[in-house]
Amino acid sequence: MVISIQNVHKQYVSGDIKTTALKDVNLEVKKGEFVVVLGPSGSGKSTLLHVSGGLDEVNDGTILVSGQEITKMRSSQLTDFRRKELGFIFQQYNLMPNMTVFENVEVGARLSDRPLDVTNVLKEVMLENLFNQFPYQLSGGQQQRVAIARAIVKNPSILFCDEPTGALDEDTGKTVLDILQRINEEFQTTIFLITHNLGIAEMADKVVRMKSGEIIEVKQNLYKKRAHEVSWT
Ligand SMILES: Nc1ncnc2c1ncn2[C@@H]1O[C@H](COP(=O)(O)OP(=O)(O)OP(=O)(O)O)[C@@H](O)[C@H]1O
Ligand SMILES: [Mg+2]
Repeated sequence: MVISIQNVHKQYVSGDIKTTALKDVNLEVKKGEFVVVLGPSGSGKSTLLHVSGGLDEVNDGTILVSGQEITKMRSSQLTDFRRKELGFIFQQYNLMPNMTVFENVEVGARLSDRPLDVTNVLKEVMLENLFNQFPYQLSGGQQQRVAIARAIVKNPSILFCDEPTGALDEDTGKTVLDILQRINEEFQTTIFLITHNLGIAEMADKVVRMKSGEIIEVKQNLYKKRAHEVSWT
């Protein structure tokens, strides 16, 4: 298993208010699996991504990522592991505004011990003509492809994606999904993707449904759709 989540509890405390975001969550993800997580707003999807990706701590339980127990790591160790091993793509692109497309992706490459070639990765996401542009000169879909390139150039074992197409229209969203699908297939990169778009679940190997901090269903798809075939909701 590339991710093993065992009896995880997570509570947020702000002032007097306690919110249980994850309640006894268990999940196993195999190497190369494309996992889609669905669920209503506030059901704990992003929290699950954050604790699995070492961006936030659990209150109880164990999480193993690539065989390493991240819930036992010290924070400096965890930061190092996360930077080298994991890729993140969010709805907001978080690009460096004063760096070109090429330079933004180079930042990702420098974090890794086994980076891919920056030029090849930019070709992979169809940005070969925009190396020297700055983020403000790009469309939303192009910026999201730079963010994907920055994440995949690290050659991460897992790509964590939180609503990567949330800000994109159907055509641009499908282009982004097509890239994620190709990366998943070519590099056996495990994909953990959160979405509100039910159609995207049809691209997954495994569909995880959450409700009120719990996993209520895990379903394996027998037939997977190509990115361009999904119905957009
Ligand atoms: N940093 C935080 N501090 C306090 N409460 C938080 C924090 N992050 C999340 N929560 C709470 O934890 C619960 C789960 O939030 P989470 O962000 O995981 O939901 P989600 O399923 O990703 O929702 P959405 O679809 O709206 O993004 C919610 O009740 C939320 O208000
Ligand atoms: Mg969320």
